[in-house]
Amino acid sequence: MAHKIEIIDRDTEVEAEDGQTILQAMLHGGVEWMHACGGFCNCTTCRVKVEEGMDNLSEMEESEKNTLRRFKGDEVLEGPFRLSCQVKVYGDIKISEPEWY
Ligand code: FES
Repeated sequence: MAHKIEIIDRDTEVEAEDGQTILQAMLHGGVEWMHACGGFCNCTTCRVKVEEGMDNLSEMEESEKNTLRRFKGDEVLEGPFRLSCQVKVYGDIKISEPEWY
């Protein structure tokens, strides 16, 4: 079953297969999104801000937490931020691009 990812600040949407990562779905859907480390959880350039549907995403693994912490400090984990190369989609979501850097 496919889910909808709406990228609100780009006024576009893509479909994600169940369990696909946000990044895979965006790239497959023709959306250009930074992913400097190639999806290996080793940068934070693929970050997204989850605007709606956090419950439709996979839980954050330690590796994702560690990478976010390493680049942005502990506070970032309190926000609705995820690494799109790590987080899997299980329902409709809305995201935007965080204003970092
Ligand atoms: S692409 Fe580098 S952490 Fe996702």
